[in-house]
Amino acid sequence: MKTRICGTGSALPEKRVTNDDLSRFLETSDEWIKSRTGIGARHLAVEETLTGLTARAAESALQEAGVKPEELDLILSATLSADHILPSLSCELQRELGAVNAAAFDLNAACSGFLFALQTADAYIKSGQYQTILVTGGEILSRLMDWNDRSTCVLFGDGAGAVVVKADETYGILGSVQGTDGVKGDVLSCENRKNQNPYIAGTKDSAYVSMNGQEVYKFAVRTVPGAIHAAVEKAGLTIEDIDWFLLHQANIRIIEAVSKRLHVPMDQFPTNLQECGNISAGSVPILLHHVNERGMLHKGDKIVLAGFGAGLSWGASVLTW
Ligand code: ACO
Repeated sequence: MKTRICGTGSALPEKRVTNDDLSRFLETSDEWIKSRTGIGARHLAVEETLTGLTARAAESALQEAGVKPEELDLILSATLSADHILPSLSCELQRELGAVNAAAFDLNAACSGFLFALQTADAYIKSGQYQTILVTGGEILSRLMDWNDRSTCVLFGDGAGAVVVKADETYGILGSVQGTDGVKGDVLSCENRKNQNPYIAGTKDSAYVSMNGQEVYKFAVRTVPGAIHAAVEKAGLTIEDIDWFLLHQANIRIIEAVSKRLHVPMDQFPTNLQECGNISAGSVPILLHHVNERGMLHKGDKIVLAGFGAGLSWGASVLTW
């Protein structure tokens, strides 16, 4: 039995912020940001909640899949920036969508989160426990940024993506890999907790994302091509068989380096970071929806999805559309 993506959806906040907009209050420039990252703009949540954005993405995925909310067995949301710690985003989605028969839980694997969630859904479907699952990935990262730190806040954006997956005899996920290197976890971190335990002296206050950009870059360029090769091999395919490579949208230079190392032209690597920035767990499902709604995917296409980021962590899946 395979796990087939039957519907996709995405939602971005209304407020679009260009690099020039940022340069009005930060010492930065469109030229610096574009040349180092490829990012031209990002959407930032002002009125929106992550639950609201993800529900919009989910409704579109459900509609394309022809699945009613009450037919969902499970809702699995990848995020590191849910509206609340409790209840989880997945539980709030269950309520918003009226998915009364679905169990629901969140998963945090940072920028690899959507891949980890998709692979978890795949395991549930292969085990026979569930047949129809909503998998989402989304963030409101603007909540976790230090807006005085030009080295991080220019990189990220907000938004949500969703897919509905179903058990299928023929089409779907053919092979997956995932990995973690916790030893290097401190190159990309966010404490975001103020502990008021009266028995602990002093409180630690580093509630924002901090990153060693060059280490993250090296990690991504070294790890992602190997992960893609391993997933393609598990799928019983070769790199030449793959039609599309949909990578986490962290940085155009990382994507270009992966394309070079795999000897695959950049036109097989669709991107949307120019308009979206890095949306962590939201990147891959939003890109998948953008590519799908443009009619670029054809039945039988072989697609690689790959995520990588904090943890450090990485995941790649190969599927037949
Ligand atoms: N505007 C202008 N100048 C800036 C900015 C900015 N927004 N940010 C940093 N600078 C300055 C620095 O202060 C530094 O100045 P200095 O030389 O006077 O000290 C100079 O630019 C160079 O800084 P570096 O950090 O060395 O810049 P680098 O060329 O490495 O580019 C970047 C930084 C884009 C983050 C790069 O390291 C990179 O691409 N890393 C990959 C990591 C990544 O994409 N992370 C995304 C999140 S993680 C993930 O999703 C996997």
